[in-house]
Amino acid sequence: LDDRAADLGAEVGVFGGSGFYEFLDDAVDVEITTPYGAPASKVSVGTMAGRRVAFIARHGDAHQFVAHRVPFRANVWAMASLGVRSIVAPCSVGTLQPELAVGDFVVVDQLVDRTNGRSDTFYDVGSGNSMPGSHGPVHHQPFADPYAESVRRPLIEAGAHVEGLTVHDGGTMVVINGPRFSTRAESQWFSAMGWSVVNMTGYPEAVLAAEAGIPYASVALVTDRDAGVADGTDEHGPVTMEMVMEVVGQNVDTVKQLIEHALPHLPE
Ligand code: ADE
Repeated sequence: LDDRAADLGAEVGVFGGSGFYEFLDDAVDVEITTPYGAPASKVSVGTMAGRRVAFIARHGDAHQFVAHRVPFRANVWAMASLGVRSIVAPCSVGTLQPELAVGDFVVVDQLVDRTNGRSDTFYDVGSGNSMPGSHGPVHHQPFADPYAESVRRPLIEAGAHVEGLTVHDGGTMVVINGPRFSTRAESQWFSAMGWSVVNMTGYPEAVLAAEAGIPYASVALVTDRDAGVADGTDEHGPVTMEMVMEVVGQNVDTVKQLIEHALPHLPE
């Protein structure tokens, strides 16, 4: 890491949609290289609500990385190298439970990984490649509680400051590999298991943050009802990409407000 990047004093990392760039005051863009290649986007470091925030567009500036191709290790490594003390991870999800409505937010507290083939560790010991971490000691990351309360609490409490917004405390996010959405049978299975929401980017981002020792929490915007409600009475029909993008577009400012209210209360 060059001195210039370290001097930026980033305290909080945010992985989100590219709409976030314009919210940072006095943003400086830095290009960071990592042992895992470049992160998905340049890193913008600026001030928001009195905190120094580093932002990476998770899917790239031009949304050029589909979920299973997001360079998660480079993204998290870049945040770690800037010295952030917490990470806030906004994402979009389909709801699997009737009490979670489109437009609500869920600060999930559990995760089920249904992805495959993604590089999900910095401790890829024995792989024979030359990445840092790959030749270190064998390491098994504790992950029983994948999200940090020190980041979840401020996000939940921030919800009370945004008029008309419902923020749910807790829930399980099942992360599918994508890029396809779930079948009706898969969706009904996830729902019957009691899982709350479904998404494509929540893993391995969370475990890599844990390996890096950075407290991390997701704040999930409900954009759709996934494959539809079980009795087939859903007038909206199964999820489409257009549906997700539309609801994300309507909520860019809400995400900003939530993070703005949470920032002063995130770890020092
Ligand atoms: N992201 C937003 N909605 C989704 C859904 N229904 N399934 C997977 N990822 C999503």
